[in-house]
Amino acid sequence: MAMKILKYGDPALETPCAPVADSEFETAGLAELAAEMFATMYDAQGVGLAAPQVGILKRLTVIDCSCGENEAEKLVLVNPEITAAEGTQVGEEGCLSIPGFREQVKRPQFVKARARGLKGEWFEVEAEDLLARAICHENDHLDGVLFLNRLSRLKRESIKRKIRGLRRKGEWD
Ligand code: NI
Repeated sequence: MAMKILKYGDPALETPCAPVADSEFETAGLAELAAEMFATMYDAQGVGLAAPQVGILKRLTVIDCSCGENEAEKLVLVNPEITAAEGTQVGEEGCLSIPGFREQVKRPQFVKARARGLKGEWFEVEAEDLLARAICHENDHLDGVLFLNRLSRLKRESIKRKIRGLRRKGEWD
């Protein structure tokens, strides 16, 4: 079942999230949350989703740059940390919480991250291109940071103004 994705303006999206506690690993609750987040992300045709986007202020993200085409590309990152970043890429980026807006965002070309899986095991991921971008974008969500914060002030204010207009018309909730 798809969960409701919160839209920009909801305070949950700008609140730093708490780490998943040791006692939560290997529980059905955590596995179900990840499964529901994948379903929600595929339903919305996204490549990444962070728990705060569904109102859960925990450091958990799901990513699949294959959009459900390749099981091997499914990633669940719990309590992720980016441990290295190199180079830069500039490319179009969007966010399921800010639908209809896409902008050029500068990100590292290559990142290394460590994270825990649903059973609590630590693992390392090395990523470049789109996957590096997705890891950075989702990791930002866990700190309450949106891609809007990575744009120039001018661009950010222009998007915020358009969103206020949509909200007034009842087209943003
Ligand atoms: Ni996002």
